Amino acid sequence: EDPRIHGIRTKIRVVPNFPKPGIMFQDITTLLLDPKAFKDTIDLFVERYKGKNISVVAGIEARGFIFGPPIALAIGAKFVPMRKPKKLPGKVISQDYTLEYGRDRMEMHVGAVEAGDRALVVDDLIATGGTLCAAMDLLERVGAEVVECACVIELPELKGREKLNGKPLYVLLEYYPEA
Ligand code: PRP
Ligand code: MG
Repeated sequence: EDPRIHGIRTKIRVVPNFPKPGIMFQDITTLLLDPKAFKDTIDLFVERYKGKNISVVAGIEARGFIFGPPIALAIGAKFVPMRKPKKLPGKVISQDYTLEYGRDRMEMHVGAVEAGDRALVVDDLIATGGTLCAAMDLLERVGAEVVECACVIELPELKGREKLNGKPLYVLLEYYPEA
């Protein structure tokens, strides 16, 4: 394991029972307070993706908007926000998806991503995988190729990786709740 990963892990605050009982919330705002750990996080992704001909970084609202843009700038890709409903002013395509409780919808501007684009999907965390699936569906519907999904944290117990239809997922660290 890269020695920088340990430092990143120590900066992520785990908040029990937020936003509801039983959830161990992975708070990345404490990582952002540490410029070295935040930079290491971005650098690890940039080292993996530079030179891979990625033309678009698709960042998922909200925390994919924090990690996605510095990666996009460093690898010379455009950044495209994947947003909650009714936030984007232009013409959008949208995708409904299931959350642990209830449903949500993700939207992307028409024309932001084109056929032939090579996409990296960025978010802070994968839990059940529904969010990343919705983002990949939107990108593939407009003819882009999803090269990989990248998250800071994976919750392996929720088996989200199995939902990605074989698409590669790269994460910096896994979180296992203590027994
Ligand atoms: C969280 C997290 C991921 C998503 C993962 O976002 O930031 O985006 O859940 O869950 P999944 O793998 O089960 O789909 P959330 O939907 O809470 O919204 P937010 O990022 O806007 O706070
Ligand atoms: Mg999110």
